[in-house]
Amino acid sequence: MDQALSPGLSDLDRRYVDLLKKSLTRQLSSTTYSILLPRRRTIAGIAYQVLNALVRAHGYEVVRRGSARDRREGRDWPLDAETMVGGLRLDNLEECVRCVVRDDVPGDLIECGVWRGGSAIFMRALLAVCGDRERTVWVADSFRGLPKPDPARYPVDVGDLLHQRDQLAVSLEEVKDNFARYGYLDERVRFLEGWFEDVLPAAPIEKLSVLRVDGDMYKSTMEALESLYPKLSRGGFAIIDDYGAMPSCKLAVDDFRLRRGVSEPIEPIDWTGVFWRRTA
Ligand SMILES: C[S@@+](CC[C@H](N)C(=O)[O-])C[C@H]1O[C@@H](n2cnc3c(N)ncnc32)[C@H](O)[C@@H]1O
Repeated sequence: MDQALSPGLSDLDRRYVDLLKKSLTRQLSSTTYSILLPRRRTIAGIAYQVLNALVRAHGYEVVRRGSARDRREGRDWPLDAETMVGGLRLDNLEECVRCVVRDDVPGDLIECGVWRGGSAIFMRALLAVCGDRERTVWVADSFRGLPKPDPARYPVDVGDLLHQRDQLAVSLEEVKDNFARYGYLDERVRFLEGWFEDVLPAAPIEKLSVLRVDGDMYKSTMEALESLYPKLSRGGFAIIDDYGAMPSCKLAVDDFRLRRGVSEPIEPIDWTGVFWRRTA
């Protein structure tokens, strides 16, 4: 992929896009804070839960200080940023979106697994910056966190506890509100609310040019790819957020690619994200 897309942007647009990335990730702030994620059944975990319950009652929250590296590389769950995806994965998203617009690759954009909506807001903003007037950004999520593992169909997910993390459950109202605060809650953004297995197979999407999958689990990754990869145009991009971070996600991608004969090479984005450009 062409890595030097910036020449196509005016100086002002370049500054706007960079500012957006820094705002959505909170790289703009001199100090950032991350959600604490101690294991539940450890002493530290129990102490944290008790302490947090106590201070929450008074309007406070126990957090840890984040770092510029965390936010650049998307390694933490930020306290208030609209995306946990770091700056490097937003750089990749920018390159993919600008590439499909420049090369006239047909199809909408989707993120499956949006949390607070930051990456999807960034997609919509990029369409505006690129002067695209046609494409829709699809925003797919349960808006209530991750599903429980389904041991019969996806034994790999057994033991996955992410469904217990209420920090991953962000309501549709909150995500819409985030879009509105950035000025992008409009008819070019469409929300698909529900579990991927229920909403994606029948989603009224004709074609996609960017398919961004960020659902963490084997089940979620596989269901997103199964439903939507057949709609990805040649020249379009598949982006997988959790390939390096979550072994079950990597397995889903590898199984899917093997089963479907996808042979385009997987390219790394950072320590966890990967992507490939569909050619066949
Ligand atoms: C890690 S977060 C996504 C982070 C987000 N892309 C960002 O920019 O910060 C994972 C999201 O996937 C959603 N999710 C995971 N599996 C899902 C499924 N099977 N169906 C619907 N939503 C799912 C969760 O609700 C959560 O919002």
